[in-house]
Parts: sequence; C-alpha cells; structure tokens
Amino acid sequence: MTGRMARFSLFLAALAAALAAQGETTARAEEPWGLGAYLADGCAPCHGARDDGIPVIAGWPEDKIRARLAEYRSGERTHDIMANVARSLSETEAAAVAQHLSRLAPARAEP
Ligand code: HEC
Repeated sequence: MTGRMARFSLFLAALAAALAAQGETTARAEEPWGLGAYLADGCAPCHGARDDGIPVIAGWPEDKIRARLAEYRSGERTHDIMANVARSLSETEAAAVAQHLSRLAPARAEP
C-alpha cells in the first residue's frame, strides 16, 4: 500500500511538472515580443511607406503610440480607420504593438 502511494505521488509530481512545462511553453508563445511583431504586420501596409501622407510610426516612443491608440479608441481623436484599428486591439495587444514599433529603427528624416 505504502509503495503504491509512493508511486502515485511520483506520478502526481511528474504530472505537475509536465503541466508546468506546458504552461511555460504557452506563456513564451504569447509573450509581447511575438505578439507585437505579429500585430505590427497589420500596421505596415498603411504606416510603412513614406510617400502616402500617413505618418511613419516606426521608432516612435512607446508611450506616444499607446497614447494615440487610446485617443482613437476613446474618440478623443477622430479618424474612422484608426478608431477601428484601435478598438480592435485589447490593452495587451496595444501595449505589445507599441513596444514592438518603438524598438524598430527610427524613421529617417524626410530627404
Ligand atoms: C488602413 C490603414 C491603417 C492601418 C492598417 C493602421 N493605420 Fe494608423 N493611421 C492611419 C491613418 C490614415 C492615420 C492618420 C489619421 C489621422 O489623421 O488622425 C493613422 C494614424 C496613426 C497614429 C497617429 C499618428 C500621428 O501622427 O499622430 C498612430 C500612433 C497609429 N496610426 C498607429 C497604428 C498602429 C499601431 C496600427 C496597427 C496596429 C495602425 N496604426 C494601423 C492608417 C492606418
């Protein structure tokens, strides 16, 4: 009986370790870096080119991007497209994409 209990607790310990390892894998996959880069791909078609009148936001301070997104979301700044973009992002997503964009090479000054 005791032996069986001991084997059972070993099994439980192994199960707990396996679940913990799985939890870590999930956390890594969802960490802001990967998420921010993924989301920023959706901004690039509009914000990537320099000659279309849409501001290039790569390299902007993280706080400024987050603040703008919050303003579009709340309606403090009005713009149909950006209101939709901002409202489609959760707080976590807005933070992740702002962090990622802020780490990109700053946009060069206009020639
Ligand atoms: C379909 C085109 C489009 C997409 C996609 C888009 N934007 Fe925009 N964005 C615009 C336009 C146009 C403006 C200028 C709006 C205005 O005049 O207020 C703008 C403005 C902004 C501004 C403010 C710029 C400034 O000069 O104050 C920020 C910050 C911004 N966008 C962030 C993002 C982020 C982050 C994403 C991706 C998650 C994104 N945008 C996706 C078109 C887009």
